[in-house]
Amino acid sequence: MITLDDLVQEVQGLAPLPTAAAKLVQILAVDEAEVGTAVEIIRFDQALTASVLRYANSPIAGAYYPTNSIKDATIRIGLGKVLEIAISSHVREPMGNALPEYGLGEEELWTHSVASALAAEVMLRDHKMAIPQLSFAAALLHDIGKLVLTRHLDPAIQGSIRRLTTDCSMTYYRAELEVLGFSHADLGAQISERWNLGKDISRAIGTHHEVETTPGPVADVVRISNLAAKTVGSGLGFEGMNLEADAGACERLGLDRSGFERLSADVAVLLRDIQKSHS
Ligand SMILES: [Fe+2]
Ligand SMILES: [Fe+2]
Repeated sequence: MITLDDLVQEVQGLAPLPTAAAKLVQILAVDEAEVGTAVEIIRFDQALTASVLRYANSPIAGAYYPTNSIKDATIRIGLGKVLEIAISSHVREPMGNALPEYGLGEEELWTHSVASALAAEVMLRDHKMAIPQLSFAAALLHDIGKLVLTRHLDPAIQGSIRRLTTDCSMTYYRAELEVLGFSHADLGAQISERWNLGKDISRAIGTHHEVETTPGPVADVVRISNLAAKTVGSGLGFEGMNLEADAGACERLGLDRSGFERLSADVAVLLRDIQKSHS
């Protein structure tokens, strides 16, 4: 049987984050994030510069006038979005692959991750909720552990997990813990540490299926973002909607039932717009 220690060795072999993303994380980790410093980092990376300008000038970013200034673009979309874009370039390809062991077809994990990040963005931008900028990257990466774990889910392990979810009405996450002794969330936290994403993101990823712990606002946002992304039908796979909802996280974020429904509806519209713009 595989152990978390075996997989941590595998995680240590993953390529590090691109330099720009690693530096942006450090900037965002301090309270007074410096736009000027961030702009210098972005300018140094041509691909990131192009991606930031493209996004800032898109209708999804609410662009009323075009800009080719990286400083204006950064202020327009915010440092949290810039970090999400920088990390996206690193994970886009592997997260687009099918994960049949999780019941996820091609692009399904990626779409779910984008929908989760969108939910965090909508909370901040449209619902004016006071949430940390690091939440976007954390939401995007919350299921990253599945990428490593999927390779080790042989038919016997998959069968044991499925039996617990169907015969014992266990959530997919609890069944994973029961069978393996750890979950994709634990592995995701290890990947986050390998990439030096800081304790807020690592904790948020590691506890995204928990409902009784309170590891901070980034974790609360990720739990709700995951739920909103599931509600719009993205990344269902074998897990489906078989997961616990964290009412405490909603309460701490000041989100009532109708607020959550509005959030999910907004995510559905934006996700459709994004998919249309890429088709
Ligand atoms: Fe998950
Ligand atoms: Fe998820």
